[in-house]
Amino acid sequence: MKPAKRILTGDRPTGKLHLGHYVGSIRSRLALQETPAEARFYMVADIQALTDNAENPEKVRSNVIEVALDNLACGVDPQKTTFFIQSQVPEIAELTVLFMNLVTVAEVGRNPTVKNEITQKGFGESIPLGFFCYPVSQAADILFARANSIPVGEDQLPMIELTREIARSFNRVYKTDLFPEPEAHTGIRLIGIDGNAKMSKSLNNGIYLSDSFDTIKEKVRAMYTDPTHIHVSDPGKVEGNVVFSYLDIFDTDTKAVALLKEQYQKGGLGDMVIKERLTQVLEDFIAPIREKREYLAKDPKAVMQILKEGTEKARIEAQETLRKVRDVMHINYF
Ligand code: TRP
Repeated sequence: MKPAKRILTGDRPTGKLHLGHYVGSIRSRLALQETPAEARFYMVADIQALTDNAENPEKVRSNVIEVALDNLACGVDPQKTTFFIQSQVPEIAELTVLFMNLVTVAEVGRNPTVKNEITQKGFGESIPLGFFCYPVSQAADILFARANSIPVGEDQLPMIELTREIARSFNRVYKTDLFPEPEAHTGIRLIGIDGNAKMSKSLNNGIYLSDSFDTIKEKVRAMYTDPTHIHVSDPGKVEGNVVFSYLDIFDTDTKAVALLKEQYQKGGLGDMVIKERLTQVLEDFIAPIREKREYLAKDPKAVMQILKEGTEKARIEAQETLRKVRDVMHINYF
């Protein structure tokens, strides 16, 4: 028999969420929410956010509610998914410490996502140890809930792989079958409005789920298209053209998009036309999310209440798991 599904996912509260988060992971969260599961969790990963924001705890704190709002506005439903705050489940930290003994510095050092982030964040030789170790802590985020199904962006695959290795080592060393080897459910990677391979908060190339119509319009206007497409009559390139990449993902009228591509490649179609179309497509997509978000944001106490109730539930799961962990490790003295 297939084991029951236990789903867990999360976001770092370092800023509001953008379209890249939506197609990378929120969309699979919503899909998985409609499939049968034993348990579903949504974590606000504030401890992970602090690993490179130690001096900005207020930034992390204020974004806890923002990422919760983004998920609620998209339709992640607290009736079906347990929303919780990572730092308020201290058993996760305990599990992290125990897992650290099962992972080598070399293993984490090879992690391509961590390597990328180290370069991007410009740490040089001064990588905070907490940051370096966050993949181990992420394994604890997942395994405390014995989750086996993880909706995440593509960049998180190395984290899930490490989680599988940790689960395997733990089970082997402590002769147990406590931890499952979780599987990732990835969405698609969205390029940035500047044409960069990834839409990212830190690269400042995102369109946010809370952006106004005017902001969307402005960002689409500035989008990278084809620098050699100068006059309307010039033939233009569709590959690597951000506007077409987005139309491919968000415009449901695929036939119309195919025609536009043909016309653009031949020459005779201006950037203005495709940009106006994309602006409208994105506005239609974002407007209902933005409106629901604004409505929910009027009552921050209600959002905190959702997080509080969920955290209590998550904590019970964590305490149960940690009791078993201490048992199999024989660190249950009294
Ligand atoms: N690292 C994830 C991100 O940056 C956030 C995260 C933290 C997470 N803990 C998790 C995602 C556990 C899935 C499961 O997007």
